[in-house]
Amino acid sequence: MRECFELRDGDALGRIGELTVPRAGRTVETPALLPVINPNIRTVSPARLEAEFGAEMLITNAYIIRGTDDLRERALAEGLHDMLDFSGAIVTDSGSFQLAEYGDIDVTTEEILEFQHAIGSDVATPVDVPTPPDATRETAEADLETTEQALADAETVETGEMLVNAPIQGSTNLDLREAAARHADATDLDVFPVGAVVPLMNDYRYADVVDIVAAAKRGLGADAPVHLFGAGHPMMFALAVAMGCDLFDSAAYAIYARDDRYLTVHGTKHLADLEYFPCECPICTEWTPAGIRAESDAERERLLAEHNLHVSFGEMRRIKQAIRAGNLLELVETRARNHPAMLDGYRALLDHADQLERADPASKGSFFYCSAESARRPEVRRHQDRLDRLETPDSLLLTEGASPSADQFDATWRVLPPFGPAPRALSETYPLTAELPDRLDDAAYEAAARGVARLVETHPETDVTLSHDDWPASALALVPPGVTLDALHERAD
Ligand code: GUN
Ligand code: ZN
Repeated sequence: MRECFELRDGDALGRIGELTVPRAGRTVETPALLPVINPNIRTVSPARLEAEFGAEMLITNAYIIRGTDDLRERALAEGLHDMLDFSGAIVTDSGSFQLAEYGDIDVTTEEILEFQHAIGSDVATPVDVPTPPDATRETAEADLETTEQALADAETVETGEMLVNAPIQGSTNLDLREAAARHADATDLDVFPVGAVVPLMNDYRYADVVDIVAAAKRGLGADAPVHLFGAGHPMMFALAVAMGCDLFDSAAYAIYARDDRYLTVHGTKHLADLEYFPCECPICTEWTPAGIRAESDAERERLLAEHNLHVSFGEMRRIKQAIRAGNLLELVETRARNHPAMLDGYRALLDHADQLERADPASKGSFFYCSAESARRPEVRRHQDRLDRLETPDSLLLTEGASPSADQFDATWRVLPPFGPAPRALSETYPLTAELPDRLDDAAYEAAARGVARLVETHPETDVTLSHDDWPASALALVPPGVTLDALHERAD
């Protein structure tokens, strides 16, 4: 059992957790957003991030500090917390990103870990190799070997109470990601960042990010805290949390502000294109876009960075509340409507419905059917898996409503889109109490028909009649031939 991470609540693969950071003498609630502090540039001071935005943890770069004379001397003399004026937990990165950018860095894992320990880092990072997406298998394997050696080197360093990251690489090779995660999980390192996803996110390849996180999660224990390295756009936080990511770091708030870009949970807007601010944060309440455009470069950057932080922290709170309320997937679905690439990400998540189902709580507050994708949610999968274990009589009527011929059968069950058949005793329990629109899409009926097929397949001795109210042909085509069909109301067309 990993001691530094405790789970408090969950929804899909998302969870509210408590990460114990012994060196900082505190715990951090997850999912958490770590603002990136460039030690050379202070867009918003760490003290303000803590006091005004509620940042419990931040991340900075030990490689840059080590390579800059005055920063190095100050960090060694005062310690990181005093140097940055931040009393929360501090994660440090190792220079791996610089390695990926420039191809070479002048420090080993042992040296950079010792340095991170010396400056008082709370969570340190070895020198992993961030293999870019779409690398050949040979490259990804060779790089991964180097990363795994770095993890082994990290285990030999005397790190005391400091937690150490075990980054998971493997490029877009999903089996390598899973193997890398299994390997990382078997080390005595503490936190598990999924690395080298920044290029994928910059290209809006959210479905690939989902597949990579799913692969990493398969190799990790449920109690492993997972950091999605470099993920800082609030548009994708809900999706990534639902896949089981616990920590995020945002350089985006500052980098985007520098380019006059304004973050929203629906995507990025350019300041030049805004006449009104679609946001309730203190900056957007006090200012207008024209007013901010008239400010100096530095002031404009600060104001936009503060707005970007407000929306990012606000989205994290919304996600945590959604986990508590059991409607995280409804939130993911809402976010998926904002951009086709997000819809791809959500559809990729639903491709992993089996994996999600194993973590998803058995009972939640509500199930709102809000789009055709809802028919593929893990709760539907779980109900249909449960059909295999239910006992059925010799003759069974599945019906959507009252049927005049019900007394000719040994038993009558409900058939509920998108779930399928359900004994009466279950039909008033979660998730069968789902709220559905009256104008239901074909996907809901098709999912119900798959449930009927599943029941027939696993109970071949039962004679099944389906009394349905006007199902579309695409759903009826999925009902096995042995089932007697009985339309309650014939279609008018
Ligand atoms: N920051 C963003 N991506 C990465 C990564 O893959 N490794 C490290 N060490 N830092 C990162
Ligand atoms: Zn705002």
